[in-house]
Amino acid sequence: MRLDKYLADMGIGTRSEIKTKIRKGNVTVDGSIIKDAGFQVSDESVVTFCGQEVSYEAYVYYMLNKPSGVISASDDETQTTVIDLITERNRRDLFPVGRLDKDTEGLLLITNDGPLAHRLLSPRHHVDKVYYARIDGIVSDQEIKAFSSGLTVDDTFTAMPADLKVLRTVPENRTSEVEITIREGKYHQIKRMFHAVDMEVLFLKRIQMGSLVLDPALSPGEYQRLTESELHALQI
Ligand code: URA
Repeated sequence: MRLDKYLADMGIGTRSEIKTKIRKGNVTVDGSIIKDAGFQVSDESVVTFCGQEVSYEAYVYYMLNKPSGVISASDDETQTTVIDLITERNRRDLFPVGRLDKDTEGLLLITNDGPLAHRLLSPRHHVDKVYYARIDGIVSDQEIKAFSSGLTVDDTFTAMPADLKVLRTVPENRTSEVEITIREGKYHQIKRMFHAVDMEVLFLKRIQMGSLVLDPALSPGEYQRLTESELHALQI
């Protein structure tokens, strides 16, 4: 790739700022000053910028605990996006893998690895997604059975079998805390599934996607890079 692209991808500056710095002799490749922005480098080249080595990462991966109130998009003119929360961002090509509703919290993988995102989201792979939810209503065996046998949500959508576990019921205010595992990712899926059994989702948080489990130490809005083993386990 071109030297200016290599440096721009690593968040060193805009393409034109980088070109100026290259022309001024601030960049070396494998020990030689290079003044040509179009000079070809690879991810094995040793590149320095103003004396600091800049190593190339083709792909980056972050686990974000999405807070309520931000949208699952890459950019938006008026609303805060999940990408705005990645403040150490040195890439301009990050995107969220899938979407959570604006009021849903929890695990969101943020990356620039298109092929991995495609595999994780492909309906062919049926990657499990686990959510914690607080429900307005007492969830009983009847709903557990209905969810496990493939719920008819509306005329257009019958959900695949989903595992529903009741963690706690609070009879005083007729609410339930549940864990639900779904294997697809239809628009508002969990809210629509509970609507279909005349219940309302009061709070929803994703806690797992495939092998990736939300780190409980991450507060809403916080993020961290995936570890090597998390990344390895995610490959499908
Ligand atoms: N199901 C929903 O209803 N909303 C989400 O954000 C995710 C799953």
